[in-house]
Amino acid sequence: MSNNSESFERWIRTSFVEMNTELEETYFKQERREAVEGVGDAIKTRICGEGHDFIVRLLAEGNTDEGFDNAFDLLGDLGLYLAALRRHELTNPAREEKSPFQEASALGLHIAASVGMAPRFATAHLATRNAAVNGRQKSFTTLKDEFLFLDYNTRGIFSFMRCADALMRILPLGVSHPVTETLLQDAASALRAVIKYNDTLYKELDADRFFYSVRPYYKPYRVGRHEYRGANAGDFSGINEIDMLLGLCQANDPYYAQLLVDKMLFMTPEDQASLRDCMRQRSILAQFLDVAPESAKKPWFKRNAAAFLEVCRLHGETAVQHHDQLVKRFIEKPSAALEADKLAQVTASGPPLPVLLRALETLRDMRNAADRNDIRTSYKEIEALKAYVSA
Ligand code: HEM
Repeated sequence: MSNNSESFERWIRTSFVEMNTELEETYFKQERREAVEGVGDAIKTRICGEGHDFIVRLLAEGNTDEGFDNAFDLLGDLGLYLAALRRHELTNPAREEKSPFQEASALGLHIAASVGMAPRFATAHLATRNAAVNGRQKSFTTLKDEFLFLDYNTRGIFSFMRCADALMRILPLGVSHPVTETLLQDAASALRAVIKYNDTLYKELDADRFFYSVRPYYKPYRVGRHEYRGANAGDFSGINEIDMLLGLCQANDPYYAQLLVDKMLFMTPEDQASLRDCMRQRSILAQFLDVAPESAKKPWFKRNAAAFLEVCRLHGETAVQHHDQLVKRFIEKPSAALEADKLAQVTASGPPLPVLLRALETLRDMRNAADRNDIRTSYKEIEALKAYVSA
């Protein structure tokens, strides 16, 4: 790392976090916690100015050629800075046609083009690739609820990755292999871990603190002329690899394909490659149905297909938990207290809340192979497999 990027990173891990925390405490004491304009202006000016000084030096240095890890970390630091400016209402894409932060935009676009990601901070910066220094990982604030949110997101993401990894290993073995049952049991155990972590998050995260002091850092913002949606815990390939390998979602379904394209640049290049590879594979569900007519009575079929159906059931359960518990408690309910102008700015991905909720509901129903005829689900295929297993 160059001296300039090291100094910027040190600032992001220290003064930046302290100033954000101080602002959050001030906002949170107000009667209308969401009203942040004109509050704490001296601190906001410091965040903006101090960050800008580092960025001008980095831009003049023009050096992103220090390997992927450094460029990736710098992109994250820059993204955290821009997300904080957005959170403190020093910029707002709804009232601007381009980012008022020209130098930060230029630096962001330069690094993003060189690493092959969107020019903003992504989930990986705060989760799976967030290095801790002396026991403290990167964050916006030192609030207990932010660390709870980040660490449980990271645990959930790693567990989904563990499930995807086990499923991928089935492909070269095939559905009749004795070890396939073991891999399916590993996949199931990883999904049980997701359920356990989601449950802890649901019980321990403070809904007001999350909604008013953590979530606002995940709003969309502009870099240059374009607006980029906020990060969310789903921006890693593992979740979609599970969807497609199980055969619950299809890469050629117009709704699901759009989602994959939209999230591509929010993932690390490694995840992008892994997702592309997975899109070419035949699902495990299809492979079981291919051989079912001649093999359904065989003991290996009953054993492996039953283990597969259990993985599908658990995957559906994680989606129900996400939508009916996490999204409901931490986004939908507190949004009801907001006035229309503030509500329009609530969601990280950008669309109005009802549109976002419908999209998440669609995903939940696809992952549960629900009996819906307005969207494509694998209801019939899963029911057919269940019938073969119990025959
Ligand atoms: C997307 C809320 C935790 C996995 C989303 C979205 C919302 C949301 C509103 C839609 C996009 C956006 O606006 O950001 C929440 C809340 C959480 C939480 C309130 C907890 C307080 C988690 C955790 C995971 C997770 C722990 C597990 C890794 C996902 C996935 C998506 C997503 C995979 C992408 C859409 C999908 O494929 O289902 N989340 N989330 N979320 N979240 Fe969460």
